[in-house]
Formats: sequence, C-alpha cells, structure tokens
Amino acid sequence: MTLSGVARVAFVGSRRIFASHLPSMQSYTPAFSRQMSVGMKSVTDRLRDSGLLRTQGLIGGKWIDAYDGKTLEVHNPATGEVIANVSCMGGKETKDAISSAFDAFNSWSKLTAAERSKGLRKWYDLLMAHKEELGQLITLEQGKPLKEAVGEVDYGAKFIEFYAEEAKRVYGEIIPATLPDRRLFVLKQPVGVAGAITPWNFPLAMITRKVGPALACGCTVVVKPSEFTPLTALAAAELALQAGIPPGVVNVVMGNAPDIGDALLTSPQVRKITFTGSTAVGKKLMAGAAGTVKKVSLELGGNAPCIVFDDADLNVAVNGALAAKFRNSGQTCVCANRVLVQEGIYEKFADAFSKAVKNLKVGDGFGEGVVQGPLINKAALEKVETFVEDAVSKGAKVLLGGRRHSLGMTFYEPTVLSNVKSEMLVSREEVFGPVAPLLCFKTEEEAIHMANDTNAGLAAYIFTNNLQRTWRVSEALEYGLVGVNEGLISTEVAPFGGVKQSGLGREGSKYGMDEFLEIKYVCLGDMNRK
Ligand code: SIN
Repeated sequence: MTLSGVARVAFVGSRRIFASHLPSMQSYTPAFSRQMSVGMKSVTDRLRDSGLLRTQGLIGGKWIDAYDGKTLEVHNPATGEVIANVSCMGGKETKDAISSAFDAFNSWSKLTAAERSKGLRKWYDLLMAHKEELGQLITLEQGKPLKEAVGEVDYGAKFIEFYAEEAKRVYGEIIPATLPDRRLFVLKQPVGVAGAITPWNFPLAMITRKVGPALACGCTVVVKPSEFTPLTALAAAELALQAGIPPGVVNVVMGNAPDIGDALLTSPQVRKITFTGSTAVGKKLMAGAAGTVKKVSLELGGNAPCIVFDDADLNVAVNGALAAKFRNSGQTCVCANRVLVQEGIYEKFADAFSKAVKNLKVGDGFGEGVVQGPLINKAALEKVETFVEDAVSKGAKVLLGGRRHSLGMTFYEPTVLSNVKSEMLVSREEVFGPVAPLLCFKTEEEAIHMANDTNAGLAAYIFTNNLQRTWRVSEALEYGLVGVNEGLISTEVAPFGGVKQSGLGREGSKYGMDEFLEIKYVCLGDMNRK
C-alpha cells in the first residue's frame, strides 16, 4: 500500500467506526435537520456571544477558512439538527499548519519551563471559567448528558493543570563516568512538532491529554479533531490563544481526513503522531509513520472484562459495572465490554443489575435527569444492532432492551444480555454502545483465561472482597489498567494506556511526558585540558 493509501484508509472516520460506513453516515440527514430548535438556538447564540463558537481552522494563530471555501456540517446526534458549518480543510492547510508549528517550535521550546507552565495554567483557568459553555458544546455535538459533559470539561482541564506543573520537572541525569577525565550527561528535549489525532467520544479530554504534555515538554502541535466533534476543539484552541499561548503553538485543522492524515504522516517536520481511536486505524498510522520514522503513541480499542466474583459485595459490583458499562452510553474504550459473573452470584447479579439498568433515563443530553444520550451516528447504531442480533441468533437471552429506543434517531435501549458465550461478536469485539453481555464462569482460572482471551488489553475490572485474589488476578490480567471494586478509574494523575493490540505508550501522569521527549546523551571529554 502506498503511504497515501495508508493514510486514506487510516483517517476516514476517527473513532471505532468502520470506514465503509462513512459515506452513508454523511448522507444521513434526518428530515427535521433543516430547522434549528429554539433550545439549540439559544445555546448556540450564547456560545457565539462568548466567542467560543468557532468554525474556522486555526493556523499560525489566525482563524482561517478552507482554501477552497468548502465547509462541512456538524450535527447534533440527538436531533439531527445542523449546529454549524465548519471549514473543511485538507492537505494544503495542514502543510501550512505544520510549517507554523515548526516555526513556533523554535521559540516555544526555548522558553523556560516556568514560562510554558504559566501559559498552560492560564489555559486551565480559562477552560474552568468556561466549564458550563464547553459542557454545552460537548452535549450539542457529541450527545452525552450535560452533567457528564461538564464532568468531561473538568477531567479534560485537569490534564492541562497537571502538565502545567509537570513542565517544571523534566529532569536530566548525570551518569558516573567510565574515565576520570569525562563527564556523561542525559538531557531530555522536546521531540518537535506533534500531530494529534483525536476522537469524537471525548471531544475535549482526548485533546488536552495529548496537547497538555506536548506543550509542557516544549513541543508544538497540529490537532486534527474528529469531523463529528470539531467545535469543542476549536473552542479549546480559542481559549489557548486567550491564555497567551503564542500563535503557531496550537494549530487545528479538520475536514478531509485522508488528506490531513497524509500531510501529517509524510511531513519530515512532524516528529510525533499521537492518536486515540480504533485499533485498525492505529495500525495504519504506525505503518504510515514508518516512512519518516516518527515517534508514535496509540490509545486504541479495548475489550474490557468486568469480572464479578462470588465474594463481591453485590451493590458495589452492580454500581461499579453500571458505571464501567454505561458511561457515555457505552462509547468509551475502557467501557466494560464483557461482564463475567461467577456462577454462585450470577442470578442475583443479573437481576439486580437489570433493575439498575432499567432506571437509566434515556434522552437528549439537555433533558432533566437524562443519563444515556444518543449514539454518535447511524453507523454506530447499526453496529450495536448487528452485535445484539448476532448474540441472540447464537442463543443469548435479552433480559432488558435489545432494540432501538422509541425516541428514534440513534437512541438505543440500555440492554442486558444473558447466556452470552465467548464466540459471539459481542464478546469478541468492542460493541461501543449501551449493551452489557453477561457471561458465566466457574473458577478464578477460568475467569482469567476468558478475560485474557483477546488481542485487546486496555482496561479490566474486578469485583471481589478477597485481598489475595485482588493481587493475584490484577497481576494475571493482561491489561494496562485494572479497576478493583471501582468502575471509573480514569484520572490525569495515573498512566492510561493499553498492552497487546490496545496501544503503545501512556497518557496522563508523569509517564505521559515521556511520549513527547527525546533522550540525548552528551559526553564531555578531556575535562582536565587547561
Ligand atoms: C477513551 O475512551 O478513549 C478514553 C476514556 C477515558 O479517558 O476514560
């Protein structure tokens, strides 16, 4: 495959969506999409008044239209309404964004850590000051309930705060010399321009988790947000400018994904690609980055097991599994994909869990009490349907839900399936929707075997009150993240990332800095020369 071919496949559709579904998704314009509802208009008006509803790309500190004037529509997945038309950019704009990032690198990387830290801290303050508006923007373009969206702003902003602090801790080392007249040093230096390709499921947090450490280290960035959710990225970039982060340090291009991808992958000036998205796309990016031997970090798909042992506290297990499964309507890469339940607690758990799932209110993310929003688009809905149909055709039983929601659009009923087997699609691949498949196991060894029987290795959850088992199973699980008696484990202070085919590298925590640094060894010889 040519490099251009690689990029083309890689960038069509950013998060967990098969590229082949995209053409139909883009022409999926519901009949009532032409008129903006009063509720949405007032939200967009407020955002426009606050200067946060940006629709152009950001290159070298300037807001810019696509060079050929093309735009693309951004839809509200809950209603199908068009929220805004944003610039549909491609290779030419991306090359200019790379050049401006390359120029800015010269000065940004030479600032003191304290100066970079101040800029990041100011950016954090502004993100927090605009938490409500940013949350509304996330709900509008991504669909997650407003409370969860505001929670994402909090989570996302904290990466900027954390890395503002971490900027000051990029320490080198002195190695004891092997000869008396020599001194050996290790320096850590920013890798250069980074291309950050981000998904739609966390329109803010997946950007800040990459851009925070990049900027802290002295790198500059070209961000390519998902075509489905570019508005939050643009608003965050506007706040970066207001925070005094110099022009060219943060650039944003969106639109023609294959062309943008090609430009990022082939440019020798881009020294790092950081990506969150599907495993299939991640593999193409790795291949594409090989041409210019870029540093790559990838946060890819999961197939998270959530293991409930007989000795678990039932309430803790139900609440933990609920949070791990239904966050963002099941659209996160760390969402529990398979709920493995030991035979002694299976019936009780299935019953209590189904009752809890039944109480989840589905609706437009702006609705009172809503905790489950729509799926991102028709392709996502069809994927969930296909997985459930496959499971049912192979003997799974629908305990709850199992079909499209009466609200229409891309709403799907929160679903619990029992009698699920390892060979069903829903156990093999990420469903990325509100479907909880229950699988029964007898022994700890069997649970570990079932949990590890996948190429994925991102997150796993266990529920048990046995301390020894906690250690034994945590160590045996081939996963990058393990939650014990806890369903929500993501935080800016801990390393996030997968093993096996779930990815490379870590985001968040002090380890997230390493992804944007090069190590340089300096040998100072002939110390005693006068
Ligand atoms: C993801 O789904 O990619 C990120 C989830 C998280 O940060 O918790």
